[in-house]
Amino acid sequence: MTPLDLWLSRSIPMCLLLHSLVLMAICFPSASMCPKGCACQQADYSLHGLNVTCSLSRLREIPPDLPPDTVLLQLDHNHIQAVPDRAFQGLRMLRRLNLSHNAVETLGEGAFLGLEASLEELDLSHNRITSVHKDAFARLKARVHVDDNPWHCDCALQQALGGMAHNHEAAARVHCRSSELRDQEGRPFLAVDADLCILARRTTDYAMLVTMFGWFAMVISYVVYYVRQNQEDARRHLEYLKSLPSKPKKPDEPEDISTVV
Ligand SMILES: *[C@@H]1O[C@H](CO)[C@@H](O)[C@H](O)[C@H]1NC(C)=O
Ligand SMILES: *[C@@H]1O[C@H](CO)[C@@H](O)[C@H](O)[C@H]1NC(C)=O
Repeated sequence: MTPLDLWLSRSIPMCLLLHSLVLMAICFPSASMCPKGCACQQADYSLHGLNVTCSLSRLREIPPDLPPDTVLLQLDHNHIQAVPDRAFQGLRMLRRLNLSHNAVETLGEGAFLGLEASLEELDLSHNRITSVHKDAFARLKARVHVDDNPWHCDCALQQALGGMAHNHEAAARVHCRSSELRDQEGRPFLAVDADLCILARRTTDYAMLVTMFGWFAMVISYVVYYVRQNQEDARRHLEYLKSLPSKPKKPDEPEDISTVV
């Protein structure tokens, strides 16, 4: 074996190994970084990060493996039903989030946790949202679109929208499919300026009053029943004493009753 042969026989496997390593380094990150059903590309303009488009992909949930440098995220026209707490927490650069035309029904307190500093626009229009946690949008600086949802207008919604002073526009486009207030149904949320939270508090106060009255009535009727029962026993006892044949002195009736009672 010449030195050249030796060198070749050792370096070709090395070369192949190196080659596959380089290929892996090039191919793997990009393959694992863009979630299934999405297209990822550098965003235009001065946005330094990825434009992730997952529109019309029949997604049933939010992809768990979104790239951390996503700045634009299009999730519109899918079948997403829920936004779990902290679903976007890792996306510190996310500016625009489009969840319109999905099947989202409700939003919890932590749905948009982690997006407070970066998010500029949040589209939740054309979903099935009826209710939100009162703090679902708390501390978000984003412009929020919540129109075309079957809202149930209640205290929590009033608190959630009230917390977004800069989002009067969003609140103005909320129509109440149903409401705590009968005359608000089918009308714009802002058309009735009753305080739904005071209303809710009054309802609970009333319920409390009724419950307390119920307990009170039960206690009273038990006491009455107990007194009656004892009087009956006392009378029977007296009659028994009276019926005894030879007793020199009869016990004093009224005093006896009162002591038993
Ligand atoms: C993001 O990508 C979509 C298609 O993938 C494109 O239509 C859109 O213009 C892009 N937007 C920006 C701001 O890069
Ligand atoms: C979200 O996507 C829908 C459908 O593509 C589009 O009509 C809407 O303008 C988008 N919203 C925002 C805030 O970009």
